[in-house]
Amino acid sequence: MTLSVIVNGAQGKMGSLAVKTLEAHPDFHLVAGLGKQDDLAAAIQKTGAKIVVDLTTAASVYTNSLIIIENNAHPVIGSSGLQDAQIQELRGLCEDKSLGGIIVPNFSIGAVLMMHFAKQAAAFLPETEIIESHHEKKLDAPSGTALKTAELIVQARKQARQVLPLKEIIPAVRGGCYEDINIHSIRLPGFLAKQEVIFGNVGETLTISHNSIDRACFMPGVVLACQQVSSLNSLYYGLEHLLHLF
Ligand SMILES: NC(=O)c1ccc[n+]([C@@H]2O[C@H](COP(=O)([O-])OP(=O)(O)OC[C@H]3O[C@@H](n4cnc5c(N)ncnc54)[C@H](OP(=O)(O)O)[C@@H]3O)[C@@H](O)[C@H]2O)c1
Repeated sequence: MTLSVIVNGAQGKMGSLAVKTLEAHPDFHLVAGLGKQDDLAAAIQKTGAKIVVDLTTAASVYTNSLIIIENNAHPVIGSSGLQDAQIQELRGLCEDKSLGGIIVPNFSIGAVLMMHFAKQAAAFLPETEIIESHHEKKLDAPSGTALKTAELIVQARKQARQVLPLKEIIPAVRGGCYEDINIHSIRLPGFLAKQEVIFGNVGETLTISHNSIDRACFMPGVVLACQQVSSLNSLYYGLEHLLHLF
């Protein structure tokens, strides 16, 4: 039996690719592709969609998520911008209904593995910095992936860094810090999304590098999330839960 899916944000860069991917996949029946002019609640009710993939904007993702859950569809949220308190609230609503859902800050399986490997390395190599490079139209920094990587490293390592005082000739030349982990954000044409996590140790460095060069890299994650979301019983955060990594 096929799973009925709506893509919200269907005219966008990610949404239009998700539409093509899900339309072509035998597990799914794409029942609607919606934009901001459409009534999401009415579309879920009319089509009886089981799953809604949201690939819209930070400004609308919270309201869209509420509508999806209120109308008993499984949310697959790819839009960025949900705050921690909003995620907690949405999780509570899903649990009240025993409704499975997933928020996926990064659908790329390679990027999720990069974070996982960085977490493993941090247990042995606490001296770490992160360089993330994105296209020039990405207006926020650091990326959610860089921030999440830094959080995972802090959780996994057994000791803090040995940071010596430094005179900065140019202010903030060492990047921004999450705890004591420097994050350097590059915004340039030519990049889609790249991240390097560099570990330094006596006489050696280890670099874990991931490079998204085409939005196609996000689509296997979109498919995986849609295939598995109805078997979940709460609202999960991160594709790693479906890959059983963390
Ligand atoms: N999870 C991941 O792996 C991943 C990867 C890349 C991007 N993203 C995120 O995915 C989202 C979309 O990215 P994108 O690059 O595809 O952006 P985009 O090209 O700007 O597409 C966003 C689309 O959503 C539409 N939209 C805006 N408000 C809406 C609403 N209330 N209801 C329905 N549709 C609405 C926009 O319509 P208008 O153009 O008419 O405003 C546009 O068609 C962003 O939040 C981005 O950060 C996630």
